[in-house]
Amino acid sequence: MVNGFGAIKLAGVYVYPCLPALPFAALPPVSRRIASRRAVLGVGFSFLSQFINMATPNLGAKSFIASARQKGAVEKVLENVEWPEQFPFKEEDFQRFDESPDTLFYDSPRFVTHIDDPAIAALTKYYSEVLPPSNTPGIAILDMCSSWISHYPKGYKQPRIAGMGLNEEELKRNPVFTEYVVQDLNIDPKLPFEDNAFDVITNVVSVDYLTKPIDIFKEMARILKPGGLAVISFSNRCFWTKAISIWTSTGDADHVMIVGAYFHYAGGFEPPKAVDISPNPGRTDPMYVVYSRKLTA
Ligand SMILES: C[S@@+](CC[C@H](N)C(=O)[O-])C[C@H]1O[C@@H](n2cnc3c(N)ncnc32)[C@H](O)[C@@H]1O
Repeated sequence: MVNGFGAIKLAGVYVYPCLPALPFAALPPVSRRIASRRAVLGVGFSFLSQFINMATPNLGAKSFIASARQKGAVEKVLENVEWPEQFPFKEEDFQRFDESPDTLFYDSPRFVTHIDDPAIAALTKYYSEVLPPSNTPGIAILDMCSSWISHYPKGYKQPRIAGMGLNEEELKRNPVFTEYVVQDLNIDPKLPFEDNAFDVITNVVSVDYLTKPIDIFKEMARILKPGGLAVISFSNRCFWTKAISIWTSTGDADHVMIVGAYFHYAGGFEPPKAVDISPNPGRTDPMYVVYSRKLTA
């Protein structure tokens, strides 16, 4: 199966991994700026070290900075964080190289997978451990930023599984959905669902495209049932022209902190946790999950 993030021409558009695979000189000027920021400050650790120093003075940045690949490092990123009072991101952190409408970028369906087979298998296994058993009466699940595949266990069914995404052809072909909605969340972050409606919300390799994440995470808290689970998973690949700049200029451990910050600053969630489910660290696509439950009171 074609990997959707390879530097290949797909549906008329070139797509790249998150960390540009092109030589520095070949990058367009904005990417050069991003790449040189990364080179000067160290691969992806600038944000995290600054944040950790600011937020958790007792933890010492070095243990986090070592590498997202060290066993247990990702889980530690969200342990005992003393979050700064103010949301630590700036408007420019949510800008993208390609600011054209997302509906144009996703206009043609892509019946591809965006992570490799071992990463998909790891995510499906994780889902089999945390999702309610198939066919449980009353259960409702929302898969945000979805396409033709949700990576749930084979044959998984629930009375209600809603999908959201930008390409109707993809959503129509997704076998788990009982309903779907096409909506550009960067234009309209209001989720078109009633309060306390869902037991679980999933979002796979897409949180990095959201330019209004706090609005969206607030909405997630609103539509989850009390105690409902939000599972945000990601790898180290993306359509980098469409990902927000704070994501493309930082590394895997930073991404865990960024998603954790979305939960924290949106409010209404338990302290977020991270888990590294990478199946073959350093050899195949990594896979990380940041999750939290809606507060019950
Ligand atoms: C890399 S694909 C991942 C699709 C799917 N979750 C998967 O695992 O294969 C990114 C997805 O994010 C969704 N997306 C990107 N930008 C979006 C936006 N502005 N509003 C809503 N969805 C968006 C698209 O529908 C697209 O399917």
